[in-house]
Amino acid sequence: MLSAVERKIEQFVAELNDKEVERLYAKLPHGKRLRAKLILKVAGEKLPVIKTAAVVEMIHAASLLHDDVIDDADTRRAKPSLNALYGNKTAIMLGDILYSKGFFELNNISAEVAKLISNAVTQLSLGELKDVSLSKTFNTDKALYLDMIYQKTASLIEAAAGAAAVLAGKPKTPFMIYGRNLGLAFQMIDDLLDITADSATLGKPALHDFVEGKTTLPYIYLYEALDESGRGKLKSLHAKVLSREEQNWIMAQMEERQVLMKCYAQARELIDEAVELMNAQGEDALSEIAMEMIDREF
Ligand code: IPE
Ligand code: IPE
Ligand code: MG
Ligand code: MG
Ligand code: MG
Repeated sequence: MLSAVERKIEQFVAELNDKEVERLYAKLPHGKRLRAKLILKVAGEKLPVIKTAAVVEMIHAASLLHDDVIDDADTRRAKPSLNALYGNKTAIMLGDILYSKGFFELNNISAEVAKLISNAVTQLSLGELKDVSLSKTFNTDKALYLDMIYQKTASLIEAAAGAAAVLAGKPKTPFMIYGRNLGLAFQMIDDLLDITADSATLGKPALHDFVEGKTTLPYIYLYEALDESGRGKLKSLHAKVLSREEQNWIMAQMEERQVLMKCYAQARELIDEAVELMNAQGEDALSEIAMEMIDREF
């Protein structure tokens, strides 16, 4: 049950024995808890499973605290981000506190789970660093984009699925492939939503990625589809605050070249593959969570 995970996170935070941290944590709105749901779906509700789900959600929350500093994001989960409310220093330190408490608790679960999850955090951080480096220029290399999103997003979901399989005594590999595909599709959809969703639904500013210099998959495909002058114009808008007219131009070009549909289809393919793999394992219930990852508005 997800509420057992919430209580476990609250307990872990309370054990830090620090009133300021408790107050700050209480200010963080809860997310969708997709990673926790995935772990419980694979492994049931025994205590080590609840603890693993709690740790993964704490790690995920820490990664978002740092991500909003990196991305200069003022909103998160439809509320002002912690960096917007209290500044970067507080956001970074709360992130470090959640990460390190999570690592400490992993030692009380199992060595294999600890290895899987802590390694994923290294990958996530390497991926975030790559995201920053790639955004300094107009990246048109799809392979680099895919490697980067694998590291920053899919690695943790892959490890969460793998850890859950280990705890449930199930074979690790198919679950990790399932998690990897889900993670890649999840980030592709996140990148699409940055373009298609209005910021109120999304709970974070829309079209923010391109302003931050990120050429996510839709921009890469658009670049490929444009002629020389269109490419020049798109490049000239990279990493700038866009006027309404410039935003509309990008949207119209994407519409005309069916770029968004192409990206959605690619994410959908990864999800279908993951669902098939789980069906072959007799894990039909896991297809529901796969669909939730992709058919979402925020
Ligand atoms: C946001 O993840 C960051 C990405 C990896 C795209 P979620 O969309 O799962 O965030 P919450 O926890 O539900 O807010
Ligand atoms: C995912 O990237 C962030 C992490 C893996 C920590 P984004 O920067 O796209 O996530 P959002 O859009 O801010 O949620
Ligand atoms: Mg971000
Ligand atoms: Mg980011
Ligand atoms: Mg995003």
